[in-house]
Amino acid sequence: MTMLRLPIAFDLLLLACLSGCRATPPPSFEALTVRWVKKHITVKGTHQTNPIQTTPQSISDGKHAFGFYCVVCHGRDGQNTGVPFANGVSPPIPSLASAEVQSYSDGQLKWIIENGIAPSGMPASRGILSDDDMWSIVIYLRHLPPEGSLGDPKAYSGEEFEDENRASNKPTGSSSN
Ligand code: HEC
Repeated sequence: MTMLRLPIAFDLLLLACLSGCRATPPPSFEALTVRWVKKHITVKGTHQTNPIQTTPQSISDGKHAFGFYCVVCHGRDGQNTGVPFANGVSPPIPSLASAEVQSYSDGQLKWIIENGIAPSGMPASRGILSDDDMWSIVIYLRHLPPEGSLGDPKAYSGEEFEDENRASNKPTGSSSN
């Protein structure tokens, strides 16, 4: 079995190298199509506007709600810092600061958080986070800190909830008005 597979894998590697051995190959036509369909058809909410105003308080509320469980996959900075499997899953976990993610409208980001992206590992938050929490997370996504500036998720060492969330145990979303 393995004897058969090895040469095939080697051929593919060779093929990949012949067609351009680059660190970041340009996205394939297929990947671009998937991306287009996702942005223009799958993900709804394009014209919904964020009912929560951007203030230092709402950014901090969003960061708090984000710390509730997004950090495990996206890192505290939303840019995968300290997430060991970010590139190991398919599709890989994107940097939420990337132009691609930032080009979603606020309403689309809220929709993504609420519904998740099936069949990838991006889970739906409906019923877990309140509307206010999701909207304030969208605000945080628009104001992500510099990459790496917040360190690794403490979730892996069991500390995330101690310093971020112990006080309230749950994201509050209390910033709505
Ligand atoms: C279990 C891991 C996991 C958790 C937890 C998670 N995500 Fe994701 N997220 C992913 C993966 C995997 C993708 C890539 C999905 C894709 O490209 O189809 C993703 C993609 C995204 C995207 C970009 C979607 C796109 O089309 O490019 C946004 C925005 C996002 N996540 C926000 C969040 C927020 C906010 C939370 C917390 C409420 C969260 N995620 C929790 C794994 C996770």
